[in-house]
Amino acid sequence: MRNYYIAGNWKMHKTRAEAAELAKALVAELKDGKHKYLVAPSFTSLETVGAIVKGTNIRLGAQNMAAEEQGAHTGEVSVLQLKDLEVRTVILGHSERRHIYKEDDALINKKVQLALRHGLEVILCIGELLEEREAGRAETVCETQTVKGLEGVSAADLSRVVLAYEPVWAIGTGKTATPEDADAIHAYVRKVIERLYGAGAASQIVIQYGGSVKPDNAAQLMAKENIDGALVGGAALKAGTFASIAKFG
Ligand code: PGA
Repeated sequence: MRNYYIAGNWKMHKTRAEAAELAKALVAELKDGKHKYLVAPSFTSLETVGAIVKGTNIRLGAQNMAAEEQGAHTGEVSVLQLKDLEVRTVILGHSERRHIYKEDDALINKKVQLALRHGLEVILCIGELLEEREAGRAETVCETQTVKGLEGVSAADLSRVVLAYEPVWAIGTGKTATPEDADAIHAYVRKVIERLYGAGAASQIVIQYGGSVKPDNAAQLMAKENIDGALVGGAALKAGTFASIAKFG
């Protein structure tokens, strides 16, 4: 069986006490899980959740970070501060960062390079808007976000990059891409990686799908040749639903 990677993005939810409760339940539910797991709580809960998942099969991730190491950047969180909390992975380029907070590919690329330079794993999110899909531009948009997001990333560092294909129209909407549509984009993006880094890297890279992943659609999505895991939002907020996605199949 492939090594699937199931990640939970808790977005701007949960107080520390609520995050602790969820993390404890997940540690118990996933202790015999066969795949790779991650939870990404809010910055404010990283320390609390980190203490709970430490030494377990669940990695600690952050949902974003600044493009600079430190300095006069009010309200931002630096890679050094994340490492201080033993964060091992950072989600970058999430569509909510791109579209609500207007992060562009150049800024995201700067963050990707900084995170990799500091030894973190990066989950780089890509995905098209509904109007881009309807205009037949889904592949081009994902290609551009991939190429620009990975600018300057060496082949060696690519081994610490995970891609997450998250069609924006499927995030939090209850509309999931069909497994076939998702797989087609994953296959396309894998070709882009092959062009940039060669066939070996393309077959190794993990490409998660995200966008309304639920217990009842996870197995069909994961069954697809090019889908190597999931980045889960809404369904990651309850231990039962996340665990049933995480233990799909
Ligand atoms: P969703 O979010 O599962 O709630 O659609 C996915 C994501 O934004 O990562």
